[in-house]
Amino acid sequence: MKKSIITALDIGTTKISAVVAEVSEEFELKILGVGIGPSSGLIKGVITNIPAAIEAISSAIERAEKTSGITIESAYVGIAGPHISSLNSQGIIAVADTQNPITEQDVTRAIESARIVHVPNNREIIHVVPRFYTLDGQDQVVDPVGMFASRLDVDAHVITASSSSINNLIQCIEGAGVQVESLVLDQLASTEAVIEHEELQHGVALCDIGGGTTDISVYVDGNICHTGVIEVGGSLMTRDLIAALKAPHYSAEHIKREYGHVIPSMIEASELIELDSFGMESKKAIERRYVAEILQQRCEELFEMIRAEINRGSSTQMLSAGIVLTGGAAKIQGMELLGETVLDMPVRVGLPKNLAGLSDILHDPAYSTSVGLLRWAMRENALLTSNKPGQFTNNFVKKIASIMKIWQPQ
Ligand SMILES: Nc1ncnc2c1ncn2[C@@H]1O[C@H](COP(=O)(O)OP(=O)(O)OP(=O)(O)O)[C@@H](O)[C@H]1O
Ligand SMILES: [Mg+2]
Repeated sequence: MKKSIITALDIGTTKISAVVAEVSEEFELKILGVGIGPSSGLIKGVITNIPAAIEAISSAIERAEKTSGITIESAYVGIAGPHISSLNSQGIIAVADTQNPITEQDVTRAIESARIVHVPNNREIIHVVPRFYTLDGQDQVVDPVGMFASRLDVDAHVITASSSSINNLIQCIEGAGVQVESLVLDQLASTEAVIEHEELQHGVALCDIGGGTTDISVYVDGNICHTGVIEVGGSLMTRDLIAALKAPHYSAEHIKREYGHVIPSMIEASELIELDSFGMESKKAIERRYVAEILQQRCEELFEMIRAEINRGSSTQMLSAGIVLTGGAAKIQGMELLGETVLDMPVRVGLPKNLAGLSDILHDPAYSTSVGLLRWAMRENALLTSNKPGQFTNNFVKKIASIMKIWQPQ
């Protein structure tokens, strides 16, 4: 391993988390420290106020340093927001020496050629994810290294982001005294933490329902085929409650977290809850079922938007393993059932697992991106120090690990 201590920094719309972990010889993650703080200076995953964001990031970093006893110098950082877009591209190379098997270098050259897509000069490519390879016309090759061919094609998923959003994000992180080791798209990181290998093979969509946005990535036959962002998240659900209940933000947020449900018929009609509301000195009682009706409306609409987003790059029919929900807002009661009813496909809530050390708090859907960033970092570091083929146990992991260095500093 190049490094055994790694740090993940998830700069979300509602919370910022910095997690320091140690990677063991057996490739297990031991959590050494966690720093979590409220987010500031971001709207829908994008920096809108640099000084506020620097302060919030610094505070999370400081807490992580205190709990771990380690000075954080660099981090793997999640990137998200509506400015992200993606397309599928093809790279083709002629193999120079057909008498010898294809090498890692040939594969790297093919992936590099897939980067040659038209990108406006205000955008940057952040990831080129290989989907599958074609050797002299034989397609769906997962790992061409060691095989013989005269022509190597790669189908790749290319993800781009706005240059100014990238630069603002980096400025904030550097402003907090931390170097950016790599930028990783949030939903690719979350996939690492919660999706099973078998789900990828049979077709699955990851939906990370955060505070500001719902980030989606879709996989068919073990290959990534689409990534997208929907500008709806838990904050909008809180705003719906503020408007309907005439309640201040803290009160609506509390009601959502403690009593929120999206299937009104599962709530007793007689169940009342008390809340603070505008213009009233004392608490007022409302029907919990009414809260569920408001949340149901928003979440039904969200599931319809998820369906449309999946169908932009693939088809819900191809996702036998259905949808895995994660992110803080996936914790609202009844989400799986509502998702299954609206989409007519399997839906489960995924959360990070298999962590050692100070990990209790991270076994929560809101920390999928943080844990996924650590897993990403672990594999990238492993790959940088060892190019031995066959080291990774599944092809997806290998594919993810072989992603090109994602971002070139200007
Ligand atoms: N127990 C809960 N029940 C319902 N909603 C919850 C619960 N816990 C957190 N949330 C909601 O989850 C959202 C935050 O989720 P998360 O922490 O994944 O977002 P984020 O990463 O900060 O935002 P984003 O990914 O959109 O930038 C908030 O809207 C919050 O109200
Ligand atoms: Mg998030």
